[in-house]
Amino acid sequence: MIQEYYRNYENHNQIISRYTHSKTPKKIIIILRISLTLLFFSNKPTFSIVNDAVEESKFLKKEKLVNAVLRNILRKKNEIEYGNIIYPNFKKILDKIFSSNPIREYIYSTLFTKPKNYQISLSDKKDAIYGRRVFILEKKVMKDCFVQDIGNFEVINSIHKFYKDKNLIDVCAAPGGKSILLQSLGFNITAIDKSQVQLKKLDENLSRLKIKINIQKVDFLNNKFNNKYNSILLDAPCSALGTFRRNPDVTVKIDKSMIKKHQKIQIEMIEKSLKILNIGGFLAYVVCSFHPFETINVIDKVIQKHKTIKIHNIKSDKMIKRQNGYFINPLKFKKLGGSDIFFVSILEKIK
Ligand SMILES: C[S@@+](CC[C@H](N)C(=O)[O-])C[C@H]1O[C@@H](n2cnc3c(N)ncnc32)[C@H](O)[C@@H]1O
Repeated sequence: MIQEYYRNYENHNQIISRYTHSKTPKKIIIILRISLTLLFFSNKPTFSIVNDAVEESKFLKKEKLVNAVLRNILRKKNEIEYGNIIYPNFKKILDKIFSSNPIREYIYSTLFTKPKNYQISLSDKKDAIYGRRVFILEKKVMKDCFVQDIGNFEVINSIHKFYKDKNLIDVCAAPGGKSILLQSLGFNITAIDKSQVQLKKLDENLSRLKIKINIQKVDFLNNKFNNKYNSILLDAPCSALGTFRRNPDVTVKIDKSMIKKHQKIQIEMIEKSLKILNIGGFLAYVVCSFHPFETINVIDKVIQKHKTIKIHNIKSDKMIKRQNGYFINPLKFKKLGGSDIFFVSILEKIK
């Protein structure tokens, strides 16, 4: 129900705005949005939804308004049509990156349909639906498979060949989807993460799959590394905007100051990665976001400051190039059930 609340946030705002005005208290609008979600998406009896809403609005002395708005909407319930109306701020950010109308329209529509889940096989399989490894996740995860989005798979599938050295450090590794896939592609992984909770999930995944990975609970930014590496994966913490189909709340909770904080950490993490990267080594920067501040701007800022980096082109017909990196193009996965949106940039340290 919470997912429906956020998925239809803007649809409901539009309906509510026909019966309220700009001075209606925000808390009353929230009560109305919750009520509409329950009225249209739950089996709860109509009278109890209206009664609860009226009770909740008494503290603002707006019970009459709430009662009248809900009764008016109910009278026209059959005429109300839901459009694919996207929260304006979220739409603006999406439109900045995806300029083609067919791609935009498809991405908007995916907010309103239940996303498909995928599972990835540890070895190549003839009956896979994509990339010899990807299967739809029905009820149960198959033996020798782990849960991962197809976009996530595509990122690793199209970048792993850049890494000449198979000893790879994954510096934000948990819960481990990318580490596990890379290990299954022949890499020898050192997986680090600072979160005990997330590492526990990685541990559980590894025991179920009966595979071993060298795991270290380490704060990447504060840890002193004695070794240097040729292959680094940085799947940085971010706003997770690209996972909006599964987490529709991100579409309305975009907070510029939070995104700027993410950007600061993302740049610090790239700079730390560059410190422990050998000359000639490769760093892949990945985020499950399409916010310019967390993607192309991050890489821009890094390459302006560090003249020792070369950005490489990625060969994938499932991605769109924007300046110095690539975004997964969900339209390319439409027939399979869509995908989350990731950004990836490949950096080589040349001096
Ligand atoms: C996007 S998730 C990584 C997902 C993972 N690569 C995968 O494919 O399953 C980001 C991870 O970064 C970790 N993280 C955040 N700050 C960190 C830091 N300073 N040092 C190490 N890990 C950190 C978080 O705990 C989180 O697990």
